[in-house]
Amino acid sequence: MTTTLKYKSQSIAKLYFIAAIGLFIGQILFGTILGLQYVIGDFLFPEIPFNVARMVHTNLLIVWLLFGFMGAAYFLVPEESERELYAPWLAKLMFWVFLVAGALTILGYLLVPYAQLAELTMNDLLPTMGREFLEQPTITKIGIVIVALSFLFNIGMTVLTGRKTVVTLVLLTGLLGLALMFLFAFYNPDNLVKDKFFWWFVVHLWVEGVWELILASIMAFVLIKVTGVDREVIEKWLYIIVAMSLITGLIGTGHHFFWIGPPGYWQWWGSIFSAMEPIPFFMMVLFAFNMINRRRREHPNKPAVLWAMGTAVMAFLGGGVWGFMHTLAPVNYYTHGTQITAAHGHMAFYGAYVMIVLTIISYAMPLMRGREANNPRSQALEMWSFWLMTVSMVFITLFLTAAGVLQTYLQRYTDTPLPFMVVQDKIAIFYWMREVAGVVFLIGLIVYVWSFFAKDVSTVGNTTTASAP
Ligand code: HEM
Ligand code: HEM
Ligand SMILES: [Fe+2]
Repeated sequence: MTTTLKYKSQSIAKLYFIAAIGLFIGQILFGTILGLQYVIGDFLFPEIPFNVARMVHTNLLIVWLLFGFMGAAYFLVPEESERELYAPWLAKLMFWVFLVAGALTILGYLLVPYAQLAELTMNDLLPTMGREFLEQPTITKIGIVIVALSFLFNIGMTVLTGRKTVVTLVLLTGLLGLALMFLFAFYNPDNLVKDKFFWWFVVHLWVEGVWELILASIMAFVLIKVTGVDREVIEKWLYIIVAMSLITGLIGTGHHFFWIGPPGYWQWWGSIFSAMEPIPFFMMVLFAFNMINRRRREHPNKPAVLWAMGTAVMAFLGGGVWGFMHTLAPVNYYTHGTQITAAHGHMAFYGAYVMIVLTIISYAMPLMRGREANNPRSQALEMWSFWLMTVSMVFITLFLTAAGVLQTYLQRYTDTPLPFMVVQDKIAIFYWMREVAGVVFLIGLIVYVWSFFAKDVSTVGNTTTASAP
């Protein structure tokens, strides 16, 4: 079998990508359960209560994205650094540690009541549980730190002892920031204002700060590979995008400080700086389309190019447009914590981080399976899955936005505001439609997985080309 990998240790990424896709399937299964519970309140009760399903849905999302980022790093860093990974064995070991820790945590959520899980894992020694996205038992959080440190050491040593490129330095900075910000998950003050304040250091400074660096560097790597455009051009874009992300995103954290107790000046700082956050996302669109228009080659991997363009557009729509919609304090005063927030959360997470991970998987997976691109049938299926998932996510977002606008109006804006649950009943139709779109999303995901196994009908039987493992 011929291999198209430049460095052997890049193939470790395959493990990480397979785990990522597996957990992605779990995330979406729980998403559709949640969506159904929105309209049939006691569906699966008491076996899987809504709060548990929600925790599983969001935690799986974060964990599979982290698997995806790590896989991306293990794939692209050796190639950029022009050397093998510093310690391939450590990367393999940490894969299993992370997978087992993740699986045990999810099982813990599903099998044991949350309060009992807290007791079992001795949360009272160092209480960190009970906050959205950071529900993991303290022991899991410590595991995450160990995995992150080993990972950073491995990637850092590879980068520092090899060829240094802008792509790897930006990626390393992003990954370092990701680990540093996570440390705030261990700070759990009794004062609720402080608690919320620092909770956003993890949540906001991840997705609107350091993760943007990871996104931009993976995007730059894939664009260099599929377009053949000079690295120097791509690096200039990368510098500006990174600078703009940090300038707007750091102080932009203030858009979460409007109503939780910090000083009132945050309404100004938060509004002004976060209103500029769409700029780097818009630049990413210009960047991707510009590079693809200036391409020097037609890369045979069409889905990878499609995912890259899709990421730029959808990240801008979900983060930039849907983010801007509710980021000014006078607007957020009414929309805070409504379905508008959920609409934005879905499209932004999908458009930016789900799609960039699927982009690098799309580019790297064929190479790790010994070919530059998949057979035409597999590519066609993958592009079908792109459209099924992306269009249904657009619909999920639109239905939730409609629900959110009505909710905001009926519950908070009219002269005769209605109670929360009364309003929920009135907008149930949109939750039904969201559920339908969610099922289509799941079908898109099944088609995606199928594309990995599809043999080319025209070459079936021709074992030399069609079925490299
Ligand atoms: C890809 C990047 C982004 C992702 C993944 C993302 C994700 C999220 C999520 C999940 C939430 C809900 C958090 C919670 O309360 O549980 C949220 C809230 C929020 N996001 Fe983003 N976001 C992104 C970018 C942006 C941008 C660029 C803006 C502004 C232009 C923005 C503005 C907001 C605002 C104002 C809220 C608070 C909503 C409320 O008050 O309920 N986001 N975001
Ligand atoms: C890759 C696709 C998806 C991503 C990235 C995603 C992301 C998220 C995020 C970030 C949250 C927390 C929202 C917030 O705090 O504002 C959430 C909650 C939720 N998601 Fe998803 N999700 C996806 C797919 C789905 C699907 C297909 C469905 C089902 C139809 C679904 C249904 C839900 C529900 C019902 C909640 C709970 C909302 C609430 O608490 O009111 N999600 N999801
Ligand atoms: Fe934010």
